[in-house]
Amino acid sequence: MTTTRPAADTGTVPVGTLMSIFDPLFLGIDEFGQPVYLPLIYRNMLIGGEPGAGKSSLLNTIVGHAALCDDVRLCLLDGKLVELGLYEGSADVFVGPDLDLAILTLERLQTVMDNRYAFLRSVNRQKFLPRDAFDAILVAIDEIAYFSATVGDKKDQERFMALLRDLTARGRAVGIIVVAATQRPSSDIILPSLRALFAWRFAGRCTDDVSSDIVLGHGWAKRGYSANTVDPNNQGCGYLIAEGGIPALVKACFMTNADIIRVANYAAWVRRSSTETRLTTELRAAA
Ligand SMILES: Nc1ncnc2c1ncn2[C@@H]1O[C@H](COP(=O)(O)OP(=O)(O)O)[C@@H](O)[C@H]1O
Ligand SMILES: [Mg+2]
Repeated sequence: MTTTRPAADTGTVPVGTLMSIFDPLFLGIDEFGQPVYLPLIYRNMLIGGEPGAGKSSLLNTIVGHAALCDDVRLCLLDGKLVELGLYEGSADVFVGPDLDLAILTLERLQTVMDNRYAFLRSVNRQKFLPRDAFDAILVAIDEIAYFSATVGDKKDQERFMALLRDLTARGRAVGIIVVAATQRPSSDIILPSLRALFAWRFAGRCTDDVSSDIVLGHGWAKRGYSANTVDPNNQGCGYLIAEGGIPALVKACFMTNADIIRVANYAAWVRRSSTETRLTTELRAAA
């Protein structure tokens, strides 16, 4: 991957976007052409749909948004390497097709989560706030099934699922956001108890009504909301549902590969330089 040269080489100071993970993400447009914004902080998101429905593209948009925010760290898991790989330079952790590393990473995140709760307890607070002592963390996973049902043995797959469930259940208040994509989130891929923890769910085109209901929740297809009705040629279009809401038809915005490379390189440049700057300040203070 080619990355833009760091500030030290160019003699310029990188200017960030001033975006925050507390700002809502621009997801796309609804069927009336109105913009759809999605707050990510304190939420988790599940993305489902058949192959080619637009899941990885949507995940890239979400990771791209987060990469440009200066108050969120990225932790990316991508069994295919190439879907989220362009953001590796902006990520604190990038996990490819390696279940052991995926488990180790989730264990580390679990420890971070526990430490953060201990900190909140010490300052008599219940939740993470803007400009807090620590950054939010986006845990983005493309194709959960790779880690939960495809590679490794049953014991490791179950360990992965249990850790992911804990992060999804307890991470929200300490700024840990889980966004995960999978073709069909049936019980063999993700535990139904885990599925229920995702506040936001996006169902791109699904092969049948049952698959659509698995993503959106039981009974929506019967009420007229089935992602099976999405035109297969309309990639990125799907139903978006929030906890307690009604599914809304949305066409997700789309970044071309060139767009992603441009955003990823810029984010890597700003992130690397700001980390250096923070470190320099800390070192100076310590001298
Ligand atoms: N929001 C979108 N708008 C337009 N085209 C899209 C959109 N999302 C995806 N596509 C097209 O569909 C293709 C497959 O999308 P992808 O995200 O790889 O699907 P999936 O991960 O569900 O298999 C992309 O390469 C792109 O050409
Ligand atoms: Mg994909």
